[in-house]
Amino acid sequence: WWSGVEMGPPDPILGVSEAFKKDTNPLKMNLGVGAYRDDQGKPFVLPSVREAERIIAQKGLNKEYAPIGGEPEFGRLSANLAFGQGNEIVSSGRNVSVQTISGTGALRVGATYLAKWFPGNKTVYLPRPSWGNHTPIFKQSGMNVDGYRYYDPTTCGFDFNGAMEDISRIPEKSVIMLHACAHNPTGVDPKDEQWKEMSQLVKKRNLFAFFDMAYQGFASGDVDRDAFAVRQFLEDGHNICLSQSYAKNMGLYGERVGAFTVVCKDKEEAARVNSQIKILIRPMYSNPPVNGSRIVSEILTNTALNKQWLEDVKGMADRIITMRQELKDGLANEGSSKNWEHIVDQIGMFCFTGMTPEQVEKITTEFSVYMTKDGRISVAGISSSNVGYLAKAMHAVTK
Ligand code: LMR
Repeated sequence: WWSGVEMGPPDPILGVSEAFKKDTNPLKMNLGVGAYRDDQGKPFVLPSVREAERIIAQKGLNKEYAPIGGEPEFGRLSANLAFGQGNEIVSSGRNVSVQTISGTGALRVGATYLAKWFPGNKTVYLPRPSWGNHTPIFKQSGMNVDGYRYYDPTTCGFDFNGAMEDISRIPEKSVIMLHACAHNPTGVDPKDEQWKEMSQLVKKRNLFAFFDMAYQGFASGDVDRDAFAVRQFLEDGHNICLSQSYAKNMGLYGERVGAFTVVCKDKEEAARVNSQIKILIRPMYSNPPVNGSRIVSEILTNTALNKQWLEDVKGMADRIITMRQELKDGLANEGSSKNWEHIVDQIGMFCFTGMTPEQVEKITTEFSVYMTKDGRISVAGISSSNVGYLAKAMHAVTK
């Protein structure tokens, strides 16, 4: 039956981990996938998550199905985390918030919903560049994909003028994708004032804003601070949609827990939207897994655990900031005359190094340092013991 099936290419991000596993060099480093490691380079289970698991185990809960959209309580907690405690949207019940299979699942449910029900131009405009999985998610869901300027390679920073110029030319009633914080892959975010101007322009152009918030807490170490853009758009009257992931900020990667929210004009509209989202989810995966959602809900409702979690997030964000500084210093010590200022200026889990595909190829074959072809490194994969080796390798291939 399958003789006509062509061999497909490896995934641009997860394929890097596959190649890394096969490498026998003891000095090998995996800076491909965005997954946090502790300073010993080990996967990290947050202390708040361990404690939540202990509390949940004691409850002796059953394994019944969750509702199609997950537990309503989980949806409410997720929306509050994004929009702020006591926000008008959740208290008036005009949001639809469903549990999804992490952030990818949230995007997929969202894209599928837009492909079916968005009343305007079925094209989503992504920042250039954007997370590698955005394009296939939207395309496979039946949306067209286009883009707007975002990253300026000459400054390794945000191309504000380019973005504003491009956004002002997006056809009215299209969808614009915005990374809420800690932009993936560039680590470059707009400043508060720039977000405000973008919000006005998006409104003027009558565009629909889809926020992807996979790293709340990872940009600044503060979950409220990182929600600035989302909250600014809401304050300006945008009825946005939002994907959230708990993979990074709770370290729940393999639990696959996230949320998709649509902000509606009122409760009645929300009820109709909710009914259609359920109709889309049911034949996809029926209903979401319960374990991760229980952990999230425990952390977000238990005051002591919530405090611990905020400290855990800050700890991860701070370790990444330290590694950025050490990498930059290490490159200077190696004698690199290049300007590596962007390593510390960029924020979140990733650094967009500016390395070319040839340099990436070389650092992988000669030093067993694995990263995505676009030169992105997951700073969360660096530790005190190998940052020196990385600096040496990066200098060797970029001099
Ligand atoms: C990444 O960009 O590395 C993460 O979002 C993980 C993934 O699924 O690609």
